[in-house]
Amino acid sequence: TVFDNKKSAEKSVAARIAALIKSKQANGETAVLGLATGATPIGVYKELVRLHKEEGLSFKNVVTFNLDEYYPMQPDAVQSYVRFMKEQLFDHIDILPENIHIPDGTLPKEKVVEFCLAYEQKISDVGGIDLQILGIGRTGHIGFNEPGSAPNSGTRLVTLADLTRRDASYDFGGKENVPTKAITMGVGTIFKAREVILMAWNLKKAAIVKQAAEGEISSDVPATYLQLSDKAEFVLDADAASAL
Ligand code: GLP
Repeated sequence: TVFDNKKSAEKSVAARIAALIKSKQANGETAVLGLATGATPIGVYKELVRLHKEEGLSFKNVVTFNLDEYYPMQPDAVQSYVRFMKEQLFDHIDILPENIHIPDGTLPKEKVVEFCLAYEQKISDVGGIDLQILGIGRTGHIGFNEPGSAPNSGTRLVTLADLTRRDASYDFGGKENVPTKAITMGVGTIFKAREVILMAWNLKKAAIVKQAAEGEISSDVPATYLQLSDKAEFVLDADAASAL
């Protein structure tokens, strides 16, 4: 779906999330959201906060699972995705703290595998993710599933691609400060969601969006796996769609 501009695309995604939350509320059920970080979803989170503050949208029945976190990473560090989520969304809405899940960047190495398996288990225990939102990295990664990731991969510790670390270098004050690893939900974890929305804005993403949507399906560009799914949708602004 291509929108003239980013603002209308963000509003539309936020409206879909709000509609899901409300329809679940009406049935006394929980809405399970898969959330992303990075610049891309910020406008969606702003709109959700506005809907909460101005229109009374409640998040009390919402359970969230974030895609990824750098490893190692302290939750209060400026670059932490825990901090990002608090600042962009969680601190401004009425979500219950116990309903928030984000991969833990503070674990000792020997605990990571156990943590990842438990993360998958928690997702299934709440009945799976209803709606997963995604951005896309310039390597074609979704979450932190870099080139080489298998379509059935689960939550795990991964090594970040050089381009991904270069793209993050501004936030860390130099590429050498960007962690070399991250914990990410797998491609398989993402695919289990009942609905997946990949968002991309700006000309900077046009080339990778073209590859992801129209290129040969390959582990070289993990986002191409979305072509295999009938529950995945790309939501783009005109610039990000300009090479299609
Ligand atoms: C990071 C995140 C991804 C995100 C990507 C794109 O690497 N782990 O989940 O989609 O960057 O970031 P941005 O939205 O800032 O372009």
